[in-house]
Amino acid sequence: MGTPGLIFSSALLLLLLAQPVLVVSATPPFACDPANPSTRNFGFCQTTLPIDKRVSDLISRLTLEEKIQQLDDQAPEIPRLGVPKYNWWSEALHGLSNGGHGMHFRGLTIPNATSFPQVILTAASFNPDLWYRIGQAIAVEARALYNAGQADGLTFWSPNVNIFRDPRWGRGQETPGEDPTTASKYAVSFVRGLQGDSPTGERSGQLMTSACCKHLTAYDLDSWNGSVRYTFDARVTAQDMEDTFQPPFRSCVEQGRATCVMCSYNRVNGVPTCADYNLLTKQAKNLWGLDGYISSDCGSVDMIYGASHYAKTPEEAVGYALKAGVDINCGKFMHQYAGSAIQKGNISESDIDRALFNAFSLRMKLGLFNGNPQKLPSGDISPSQVCSTEHKNLALQAAQDGIVLLKNTGNTLPLARTKVTSLGVIGPNANFPPSLMGNYNGPPCEVITPLEALQSSIKNTRFEAGCNIVACNVTKIPEAVQLASSVDYVIMFMGLDQDQEQEGLDRTDLVLPGMQQTLISKVAEAAKKPIILVLLSGGPLDITFAKNDPRIGAILWAGYPGEAGGSAISSIIFGDHNPGGKLPVTWYPQDFTKVPMTDMRMRADPATGYPGRTYRFYNGKPVYQFGYGLSYSSHSYEFAAGTATSIYLNNSLSPQATSNDPNTLSYDIASLGFNTCGELKISATVGVKNHGPMAGKHTVLLFSRWPSTEHGRPAKQLVGFQSVHLEAGESSKVEFSLSACEHLSRVMDDGRRVLDKGSHFLIVGDEEHEISIIA
Ligand SMILES: *[C@@H]1O[C@H](CO)[C@@H](O)[C@H](O)[C@H]1NC(C)=O
Ligand SMILES: *[C@@H]1O[C@H](CO)[C@@H](O)[C@H](O)[C@H]1NC(C)=O
Ligand SMILES: *[C@@H]1O[C@H](CO)[C@@H](O)[C@H](O)[C@H]1NC(C)=O
Ligand SMILES: *[C@@H]1O[C@H](CO)[C@@H](O)[C@H](O)[C@H]1NC(C)=O
Ligand SMILES: *[C@@H]1O[C@H](CO)[C@@H](O)[C@H](O)[C@H]1NC(C)=O
Repeated sequence: MGTPGLIFSSALLLLLLAQPVLVVSATPPFACDPANPSTRNFGFCQTTLPIDKRVSDLISRLTLEEKIQQLDDQAPEIPRLGVPKYNWWSEALHGLSNGGHGMHFRGLTIPNATSFPQVILTAASFNPDLWYRIGQAIAVEARALYNAGQADGLTFWSPNVNIFRDPRWGRGQETPGEDPTTASKYAVSFVRGLQGDSPTGERSGQLMTSACCKHLTAYDLDSWNGSVRYTFDARVTAQDMEDTFQPPFRSCVEQGRATCVMCSYNRVNGVPTCADYNLLTKQAKNLWGLDGYISSDCGSVDMIYGASHYAKTPEEAVGYALKAGVDINCGKFMHQYAGSAIQKGNISESDIDRALFNAFSLRMKLGLFNGNPQKLPSGDISPSQVCSTEHKNLALQAAQDGIVLLKNTGNTLPLARTKVTSLGVIGPNANFPPSLMGNYNGPPCEVITPLEALQSSIKNTRFEAGCNIVACNVTKIPEAVQLASSVDYVIMFMGLDQDQEQEGLDRTDLVLPGMQQTLISKVAEAAKKPIILVLLSGGPLDITFAKNDPRIGAILWAGYPGEAGGSAISSIIFGDHNPGGKLPVTWYPQDFTKVPMTDMRMRADPATGYPGRTYRFYNGKPVYQFGYGLSYSSHSYEFAAGTATSIYLNNSLSPQATSNDPNTLSYDIASLGFNTCGELKISATVGVKNHGPMAGKHTVLLFSRWPSTEHGRPAKQLVGFQSVHLEAGESSKVEFSLSACEHLSRVMDDGRRVLDKGSHFLIVGDEEHEISIIA
């Protein structure tokens, strides 16, 4: 504030506002200050008491009006109790974001945060250790902001672990892909890192931050052909629910110990998810054991009434949501209608108390009622730990490990710097920082575009965008062709951006936008040597033309690679890094767009021509399959000695023919029980050899399959993955420990899981290994 008496001219004021103002670190407002005699003796401030006692004490001191105000995400301060305001909504999908209300950057001590690759690219690394370390780095940066007084919340509504069911989904980029096993492992590792638990899930006390698994459930359509997420009713079978949609959420809560689940906008089988007691309370809270809170999506309680007319009155919507298990509402709806909902009898005060109990328990577990934040275990995390060299290197490593080499005819890549006398860089994604970021990004530490990174290696680099924008409705084909024909090598940066796919915007096509394909083909025709095509996109693309065009020598998919994306791409092009990423989604042909996005079925229906979805069920020919990705080296695999060949089930239960498949005897997993299942371990040892010429990390993907795909069995199913660094010519062994009940079981159409007696197969690359379940 200005010195009293000093009057700024409005011009000076404007000038001051235009400059970034550096504010000196301030201690954030905090509850239970030991120096404050009017609050320090409250029961809820006594750190020696158990948290449930402290929370009960706090709630007992609140008036009904105060309670109601605490149900929305922007919870106001309670001055008479010394409780500061709290913003529940912050985002940390791939780095701290300024989405939501809890994190503040502009003009402050810490103006930026490390921007990791968008999740779909990080998923392509198939590296849980990397996922953990990214979560951990984000948590450190979050605490640094909090300690500097720039955060009034530490609850992040990340990760997004919905299955990337349809390639057109605008938010598919936020997810770890189409595979339930990968999404589950991603959820567990990222959440453990973000919440400050150990890589194996031990918690030492205070939570670093709170993570939220969203959006429960079967939410993977934003806006397509007149269907919008707010009113869409996803019709999901019990079978698909059990073996596709729920596993990531279940793992996120059970193993990841996430402290929040968010319900989605859509309905599932008629019921808005935020009004579904069976889903939120019976399943997430009671069955999975969620120890935390359930948040609505922003406006989704309102929509139970307003958009979807499921409730007849706003009060009834409040009743549905609170009684279903929602604890925090994003928006102002609870504040507006919880009071009248009590009067109308749709809720009672005890429903509110239950919600507040979960909400305040979490704030306490974050250490926010333990007095001075500087005295907390995380109190010494300083601004210098944001955008640190370590975190920036991690952003680079994540991009390098995710990028997928899709084509490399005649070893077009890597390029030797010394042999490139002139380089032509063409494409709308070559030099536009936002195109590296994906959505839910924050203000990055520093951004190096692909063009800048290439220019720093090759002095004689010339650039031509070729298209006005990614939509590519205005081209400069003659200029691009002229450039291509006058340089040694051409690298094109094409693909998608947030104008093509984002929240609220699903695609209608899988081919490249506008005139991109024409531009690429003309450039490839004019270039002296086969060109290199780099695609930025979250969702998959039908680039069959490029796959088949011999004048396109190499293709890289780089997702949205984050702030270090330009450097990562350049390091791969010049062979400083050997690519090892693998596609986390199926790349479908354009004719897949005939399938209604609204058809939730995973399994194919040959009778009607429905092709099914994802590598597990799609019966068409993909452009590139799930798990595909080349290296600069070739690799071979073998199943080594020690891999199980049979599993004996000495169980009094005899296997039964099921309604799903009368010809096979199967064990009901629930009847086998936890202990028997615990004994049915399978060890698999896979030998892997790098045949050269380059060292690098290699990921081994292990699948299982059944003797047939009849009766809804997946074609195959990923059961494990591990990375190993190999020198050229080096061999190694990777060990997998699997569980028959978890990894060889299948789900029947009533949602029950069974283990088939008889043959099963493990698959790695082209190798197969048979395992028999014997009674
Ligand atoms: C850092 O963040 C500020 C806003 O907080 C933004 O204006 C600036 O552009 C960011 N830096 C980069 C490299 O994007
Ligand atoms: C909400 O209250 C109204 C009237 O008081 C009642 O008709 C309605 O059934 C209630 N709805 C729920 C879900 O309790
Ligand atoms: C190109 O597309 C953009 C974005 O859709 C649009 O605003 C613009 O008017 C189009 N330009 C032409 C020449 O069609
Ligand atoms: C889109 O909606 C229209 C009108 O409801 C329908 O006729 C058409 O078949 C839909 N498109 C697809 C691809 O399902
Ligand atoms: C189960 O039975 C088989 C064959 O009778 C036997 O070889 C195996 O050791 C038994 N396993 C256990 C765990 O008892």
